[in-house]
Amino acid sequence: MTITAAPARIAMVPGKPADVYAYNGSVPGPTLEAHEGDHVIIHYHNRLPEESTIHCHGIHLPARMDGSPLEIVPPGGDFDYDFTLKAGSAGTYWYHPHPDNRSEYQVSKGLYGAIVVRAKADPLAAFPEKLLILSDNRFTGNGSIDFADASTLPGELDAENGREGNVFFVNGQIEPAISIRAGETQRWRVINASASRIYRLAVAGRTLLHVGSDGGLFEHPVAVKELLLANSERAEFLVTGGDTGGETGGDTGGHNSRHAAGVAKFETLPYDRYASQTRPGDWDEARTLATLRTNYARPVLAPPIPNTLRVIPPLDTGAARAIHVVVFSQGLINNAVMDMHRVDVHATLNATDIWEIQNVVAMDHPFHLHGFQFQVLDRDGVPEPFRSWKDVVNVPKHSSVRIIVRYTDYPGRWMFHCHILGHEDHGMMAILEVK
Ligand code: C2O
Ligand code: CU
Repeated sequence: MTITAAPARIAMVPGKPADVYAYNGSVPGPTLEAHEGDHVIIHYHNRLPEESTIHCHGIHLPARMDGSPLEIVPPGGDFDYDFTLKAGSAGTYWYHPHPDNRSEYQVSKGLYGAIVVRAKADPLAAFPEKLLILSDNRFTGNGSIDFADASTLPGELDAENGREGNVFFVNGQIEPAISIRAGETQRWRVINASASRIYRLAVAGRTLLHVGSDGGLFEHPVAVKELLLANSERAEFLVTGGDTGGETGGDTGGHNSRHAAGVAKFETLPYDRYASQTRPGDWDEARTLATLRTNYARPVLAPPIPNTLRVIPPLDTGAARAIHVVVFSQGLINNAVMDMHRVDVHATLNATDIWEIQNVVAMDHPFHLHGFQFQVLDRDGVPEPFRSWKDVVNVPKHSSVRIIVRYTDYPGRWMFHCHILGHEDHGMMAILEVK
């Protein structure tokens, strides 16, 4: 397929056209859908007035095709991203630009889109799907995207926290309604495409069955009331429609109560990722992202939910050759800022390593490794309750996380960084070289 990044004029806020950047003229960009084993070619045209790339976040592909800051496409330039989707890689991913210093700006201007990789045999194929791409942004009175001057107080807060907005989008829409039939179970694929915001997701009054994360499905579903989704993380979960409340006799039977019975808020609950000095005043407000509306179509009986989704073989800690310690402090990794010409971590192709990411400051920093899916071993020494494939893991303030990774197939230079994009831009990024 062809993807062109170019300036566009789009009303992100209805009725208020703004100067944005868009992939193929839309925000978010087109969803890329493919199957495991597919050979994917993305003909990319950079028609922006600045350097950019397409980084297929989380996809296991050759380093040259990673769209990292080492593989810049100049303004007016073209590049073919060409790779094959590996067996076992089915999952929810996304793409975004990754130029040095400008990722937060370009994503905030509108450059992000979803990637769905499907399995040949999908244990959840029977469930109707919804793809929900989460984003937030901030606007001036006339609807244009509000980028604060670095020398102002909002600019300083953006630099500390990463740029957040007070307008929430799901697939580019503000508070859309999601329709579901009574009794129906839907599979939601949720992507956090926000530059800086961490979501604490819940569907009010519903239990969710969490079935997958960054690198695809879990081994077994897990029932949860809420789930934390850090920047660039993905979650798959099953949601069941409520009772429409009418025909079989709701509480009062009135028209309004009938309606209310079938409506649930999809929301983000307060989550304190911030340092106390720069914590936004409204951090403790829950925000509605969308409404889930049980419609009046005939109720359905959802198919049974399989108890085993797939097998995830554990990476062998006994085989680990090295332990790499990565210390996150404010704006720094191991006390240094990004240097494009420096290799920070050396590793051997097909070796297995443990990484220990320590966050020594009072603000969360989500860790992302390019190119390879990993497994979380423990968080602050507490063993991870179950295995999953991840490419990003939140490292909360003053805590540490250990992961294990095997560098299969692809040698080269790979980024790892904090996925608060402003932090990454300001140098909270480093390079792994696999040889
Ligand atoms: Cu989602 Cu280095 O990126
Ligand atoms: Cu950070």
